[in-house]
Amino acid sequence: MTSSSLLGSELPLVAAPMAGGPTSTALAEAVTDAGGFAFLAGGYQKPAALAEQIATARGWGSPFGVNLFAPGPDRVDTAAFAAYARALEPEAAAHGVELDPAPRSDDDHWADKLALLRENPVPVVSFTFALPAAGEIAALRRVGTVVLATVTTPAEARAAEESGVDGVVVQGPAAGGHSGTWDPDRAITEAATTEVVRSVRTVTGLPIIAAGGVDGPGVVRELVHCGAQAVAVGTLLLRADESGASAAHKNALAAPEFTGTTITRAFTGRPARALHNGFIDRHQGEAITAYPAVHHLTRELRRRAGQAGDTGRMHLWAGTGYRSARTGPAAAILGHLATAL
Ligand SMILES: Cc1cc2nc3c(=O)[nH]c(=O)nc-3n(C[C@H](O)[C@H](O)[C@H](O)COP(=O)(O)O)c2cc1C
Repeated sequence: MTSSSLLGSELPLVAAPMAGGPTSTALAEAVTDAGGFAFLAGGYQKPAALAEQIATARGWGSPFGVNLFAPGPDRVDTAAFAAYARALEPEAAAHGVELDPAPRSDDDHWADKLALLRENPVPVVSFTFALPAAGEIAALRRVGTVVLATVTTPAEARAAEESGVDGVVVQGPAAGGHSGTWDPDRAITEAATTEVVRSVRTVTGLPIIAAGGVDGPGVVRELVHCGAQAVAVGTLLLRADESGASAAHKNALAAPEFTGTTITRAFTGRPARALHNGFIDRHQGEAITAYPAVHHLTRELRRRAGQAGDTGRMHLWAGTGYRSARTGPAAAILGHLATAL
């Protein structure tokens, strides 16, 4: 049995951060209690709410991490955005929502969240979507935090190492939810996470946490054998008893009508892997790259669809391993994943 020395957990298994609800403190605590390492999902949260979650996590007596969305390029072609907003009007109308055709921008409270983490240091911080400035990374390391960057290519891994991070989360294209790519325009081509880990391994000796497409103990073992110090799972925890994912999302993962996943920009303007549904069918071709503008454009529509259980219009984030996502306590899911180590 191996352990993760960078993260300080007994098992080399990580609850990947899943913003927007699925990462509840109950899920993170259950994973920690079972010997894994858990990230709190700082993305989309107000700094005060994140501070509360951090205070709760300190009570667990084990290391934990906080994940943030680092602001990336925020260019919006306003004409293309307006055209996409028009194309989505019938979707919004189905739930009585009016779309705001003016693109909205925000940096997810970046400066305040960084200040929170500098003033109340946590054991580990990871970033996704972009690489923070070297000074921002150094400031967190100075207060004793292990800093990780999510990377999706060897070039990103090299740049992360040059910026002084302690390790990298190597996310393969099989992963559920948003791709951490620093270039949201990049075509995300299919590849096994083992391949991505091997290619990153050739350019850096930094510790690697591998993420994406885990569907059982065999893949966990393979990823550890190809050089990952720990393996992060998201999708396989979505249906766990402690998961904060909505009932509609949990049920869709097991529903026979969903027969695959697709990488799409249709919901948020940034590539993300989701269960293939009607919304993707109707808008995949015309979707634009414009995050977070498209995220804000569709947010209320997606929220109402979720409330109504309209899975044809929700963003049902899922990795390629979704068919193996089981219900039950997170501890049992983790225990099963550890059986081949
Ligand atoms: C519902 C959902 C939400 C996610 N939210 C985040 C997030 O807030 N930050 C992040 O770095 N990655 C996020 N991801 C990606 C995961 O951290 C992780 O890379 C991915 O789940 C691993 O692939 P898997 O889902 O196939 O296990 C999310 C994934 C899912 C499924």
